[in-house]
Amino acid sequence: MENPVIVAIDGPSGTGKSSTSKAVAAKLGLSYLDTGAQYRAITWWMLNNGIDVDDPVAVADSAGKPSIVSGSDPANPTITVDGVDASAPIRTQEVTAAVSAVSAVPEVRTRMVELQRAAGAAAPAGIVVEGRDIGTTVFPAATVKIFLTASAEARAARRSGELKGALSVADTQAALVKRDAADSGRTTSPLAMAADAVEVDTTDLTLEQVIECIVTLVEEKRAPR
Ligand code: DC
Repeated sequence: MENPVIVAIDGPSGTGKSSTSKAVAAKLGLSYLDTGAQYRAITWWMLNNGIDVDDPVAVADSAGKPSIVSGSDPANPTITVDGVDASAPIRTQEVTAAVSAVSAVPEVRTRMVELQRAAGAAAPAGIVVEGRDIGTTVFPAATVKIFLTASAEARAARRSGELKGALSVADTQAALVKRDAADSGRTTSPLAMAADAVEVDTTDLTLEQVIECIVTLVEEKRAPR
């Protein structure tokens, strides 16, 4: 049998990470894990339980409390917190505004990394894992590491489209740039490109082109030499 493959897909928000990662996993018959959804889920739990998300000590003390379970089917990724479906509430502006502070707390990251490595170990054929620190910290020996980028304008236009115009493109861009700065500037596993990652600038590529590019890279690595 072939060794399970781990495909790490990192990059800032709005680069098409989720659509790309799900499609690559489906095409290659691999499991899928959205680690951003896990950080959003623990943030949602903190907000619901009256934890001050700007108090790192309070966040650290509670980091072990919620049970977070991710379904790994790329056609139907699910996430529950203490058994409750969290897929819609983790996408609210309230959670988006609080998630960088919560995910900067080392105890939160340790807990999430454990869950992420366990998901990798449980995936029979392998897994596509998307996030910010997958190639650098979670799976430093991943089979293929991709770092997706795009201009701030392109990222804001895509995200604003996903939000169905709830926020203007200019406001979306300002929020994205702020969150990227927080995610890149934190001390514990910041958003960063691994030295051995392939950078794919998606600004002028279609989703199909990005998917094809990554599928080809994985197939090349899998092919017997
Ligand atoms: O991919 P996303 O926008 O849903 O991620 C939400 C937040 O979670 C993001 O602002 C930073 C954090 N995150 C992280 O710190 N590490 C990861 N591996 C994935 C996400």
